[in-house]
Amino acid sequence: MTTYKEFHGRSISDPQGFWAEQAALIDWKQPFNKVLDYSRPPFAKWFVGGTTNLCHNAVDRHLATRRDQAALIYVSTETGEEKTYTFGQLHREVNRMAGILKGLGVGRGDRVLIYMPMVPEAAFAMLACARIGAIHSVVFGGFASVSLATRIDDATPKVIVSADAGSRAGKAVPYKHLLDEAIALSKSPPKHVVMVSRGLAPAAMVAGRDVDYAKLRAEHMNDEVPCEWLESSEPSYILYTSGTTGKPKGVQRDTGGYAVALAASMGLIFCGKPGETYFSTSDIGWVVGHSYIVYGPLLVGMATIMYEGTPIRPDGGIWWSIVEKYKVTSMFSSPTAIRVLKKQDPALLKKYDLSSLRLLFLAGEPLDEPTGRWIADGIGKPVIDNYWQTETGWPILAIPRGVEALPSKFGSPGLPCYGYSVKIFNEANGEEITKHHEKGVVAIEGPLPPGCMSTVWGDDERFVKTYWTSVPNRQVYSTFDWGIRDEDDYFFILGRTDDVINVAGHRLGTREIEESLSSHPNVAEVAVVGVADQLKGQVAVAFAILKDAGKVDTLEKRLAHEGEMMKVVDGQLGAVARPARVHFVTSLPKTRSGKLLRRSIQALCEGRDPGDLTTIEDPTALEQIQAAIRG
Ligand code: PRX
Repeated sequence: MTTYKEFHGRSISDPQGFWAEQAALIDWKQPFNKVLDYSRPPFAKWFVGGTTNLCHNAVDRHLATRRDQAALIYVSTETGEEKTYTFGQLHREVNRMAGILKGLGVGRGDRVLIYMPMVPEAAFAMLACARIGAIHSVVFGGFASVSLATRIDDATPKVIVSADAGSRAGKAVPYKHLLDEAIALSKSPPKHVVMVSRGLAPAAMVAGRDVDYAKLRAEHMNDEVPCEWLESSEPSYILYTSGTTGKPKGVQRDTGGYAVALAASMGLIFCGKPGETYFSTSDIGWVVGHSYIVYGPLLVGMATIMYEGTPIRPDGGIWWSIVEKYKVTSMFSSPTAIRVLKKQDPALLKKYDLSSLRLLFLAGEPLDEPTGRWIADGIGKPVIDNYWQTETGWPILAIPRGVEALPSKFGSPGLPCYGYSVKIFNEANGEEITKHHEKGVVAIEGPLPPGCMSTVWGDDERFVKTYWTSVPNRQVYSTFDWGIRDEDDYFFILGRTDDVINVAGHRLGTREIEESLSSHPNVAEVAVVGVADQLKGQVAVAFAILKDAGKVDTLEKRLAHEGEMMKVVDGQLGAVARPARVHFVTSLPKTRSGKLLRRSIQALCEGRDPGDLTTIEDPTALEQIQAAIRG
């Protein structure tokens, strides 16, 4: 048996040999002639010259042995639908969708934006894009129109696949008007919109642009669309994520490296086996949904569960009943979801037969020890905290139990996964921190392993500038997270170094929220910080200076103004980004050079010491913040 240490060590000292072996997990049409080209750092090209296809590997190649095995299991507690697609049936649906897209003029390299709720057609659309070599860009269903418009303008999709509505807690959430507004705002509207009608919210079709999925599906019933063989580095998808600046970044993923990385992670990290069932409670709009609802499980011949609904409807036992019914072996969720379950009857954890389940994986935000212990004890299974980012596509830190079942430590996402050379650096001078428990920036030495982002869509310079120049005197990839390492080399993640906050596992830029609030006509200046919250991990809190303070001179007016400002964010960024509170002040704490002292504001909101204030311009500004919080 190889130990974790040997395995990880080899992945770093001999990446070519290591990844050449992992590459055998997938089918290649044309073998690669070079494992890694790192002649132009930090741009890494994996499996150069090899041609492959994600859809072939996720679907077609299983037909010979698993045609009648479950591939996609759809469970919606919103509509009551429950349907299993075998690999054979999934193959047919993906061919139909591919035929539809091709019929609308979509070809290799073209972008398709997918703005969908959690319905099987969303997965068909993703796989169909992969099949024909089109690049998908999935935007979380129900995302506000302004945010959607910026994504349309950046990705310039030829076609958008959408649906009439999502559903939340039994209530339809109409999408079409948001999509129509976004297209109206966009500078590069798509030629066509494929509309999946769920019958939840009647939507008017735009003649000449909108086409009905059901009608087209009937026309393309028997289509057989061959897989387009892509060179390994050709993009598979773009996924937008928040960063320091307001403009969201399009994380660009390759094809071959991603397929290999996911296939390897299914065995080495998630301990899944072909024929078993994987259940990720995420959404396809997020990276976890891309990697571990759609591609990862299917790539290795596992069935994957796609769930539409909340964790507590009809009751807090719903997920465990799914585990029992479909004999789920690996499950993936988020700390926020577990904190929601924690408020439910604990007996629900014991009500179902969970004997099939081996491991529960949690990621996306810090897992606090009480929550981790509560769920581990409650279901009697090991809980594996794992740390990664939209950018990396698969875990950076975890306990890769498929290599060696080392113990977990509560509060720590564990050890660097194979392929990642993870280090901690001093943010001021770039020196490597080797001392245990000393805090610094968590960074990865290049090359990033297969599966990680290749670049920022359409902006190589931004990729280099944003990620590879932020640690002084080093060309290393910054995660923008603080961390420490203990005496056993386990990492602990201590929050972001930049202005990104994490609300219930959703990554949001405080600047994005500030920009949105600033668009209210009465706002002169605004600061947004992330404040610790028991349930959501963090919530956004805003402090605004108004142009006309007379508009908030009574409690009633203040509440009305606060509500109006929240509505602006709802409309532009969506309800997750809505500040929990908007406070009104007449001055914001800044340094003499004009830099907003966000960390001091945040500290005050959390009842902590505001830190070093020697450079503050106007000390009364902090007093105002304090007074505002006290209410
Ligand atoms: O700050 C870290 C936090 O979430 C960020 C990445 O978010 P996102 O791009 O949405 O990708 C999520 C993929 C699971 C990180 O920079 N984060 C993620 N996982 C953890 C975490 N913080 C602490 N512990 C984790 N396990």
